[in-house]
Amino acid sequence: MIDKINALRAELAALAASGDAVDVEALRIKYLSKKGAISALMNDFRTVPAEQKRELGQALNELKTFATDTINALRETAEAGRAKADVPDLTRTAAPVALGTRHPLSLVREQIIDIFRRLGFTIAEGPEIEDDWHVFESLNFAADHPARDMQDTFFIGRRPDVLLRTHTSSVQTRVMTSQKPPIRIICPGRVYRNEAISARAHCFFHQVEALYVDKNVTFADLRQTLLYFAREMFGPQTEIRLRPSYFPFTEPSAEMDISCNLCGGKGCSFCKGTGWVEILGCGMVDPNVLEACGIDSKEYTGFALGMGIERITNLKYQVKDLRMFSENDVRFLDEFVAAK
Ligand code: DAH
Repeated sequence: MIDKINALRAELAALAASGDAVDVEALRIKYLSKKGAISALMNDFRTVPAEQKRELGQALNELKTFATDTINALRETAEAGRAKADVPDLTRTAAPVALGTRHPLSLVREQIIDIFRRLGFTIAEGPEIEDDWHVFESLNFAADHPARDMQDTFFIGRRPDVLLRTHTSSVQTRVMTSQKPPIRIICPGRVYRNEAISARAHCFFHQVEALYVDKNVTFADLRQTLLYFAREMFGPQTEIRLRPSYFPFTEPSAEMDISCNLCGGKGCSFCKGTGWVEILGCGMVDPNVLEACGIDSKEYTGFALGMGIERITNLKYQVKDLRMFSENDVRFLDEFVAAK
């Protein structure tokens, strides 16, 4: 028996000395539990001859104390190691934080606003849920004008006079009915049209409208404003061209083309070989519109223009599919990190 006691003692001493990471609980079970090695010796102790009891009993007790001390010491070492591992390393470089990017439409909207701000235009906003008067009636749309059609306009509920605005021109009349000239405003906003969603059309998109009403505002003012805008937006080499057009709320009306900013006007697939790309509609505010808003058309004249922000963004960044603007795929958005 004394040999067994000494062997266990040696085993425990070797464990304590080795410094290896150990499963302390497994050791406790192996040596100290009811079915452990030391309990087994205690059982054997009962059969030991009386004259040996004193010596072996003492050795056995010492072994038990030694085992308990050793295992407690190992447990303390293991716990200290774990606590140390939990302390964060304050010298480590921080994990990079993924920063978002500004949406390309926001970037371009801000650029447009910035250019007009330098000409003295201030921002005006209006509601997206509008009434027929502000979107159509006041803007000289005839009662049977196709733009009022269900095909184009989203109506709210069954009321024909509550609808989602189809253009930001409605903000013109909101401002003209509440402010006196001179008026010089720029109105960015979202508009809605009942179109099937495809690479080239969406049921919502964004426009910027500009309106200038004062005494003696002429077509020459409009042209010069457009030229300034085009060159600030697309570069100083840009040329503009105005083509006669029709809008109910302007007379005369025009559409503006800019020299193709991809081929410089030589003709490419983007401008379909013409050297020009269309970017906006404009004209002199129709006297009927001024009068509908309570502005004396004999005293005041004005010009207005409206453009699609998606269109301008496509020209600047060649985004081929309109749907990318609303899908918010971060791989697409990340391409605009460097854009300002
Ligand atoms: N509202 C027109 C549209 O949605 C754009 C437009 C054209 C606005 C001519 C204007 C303008 O102010 O003068 O297509």
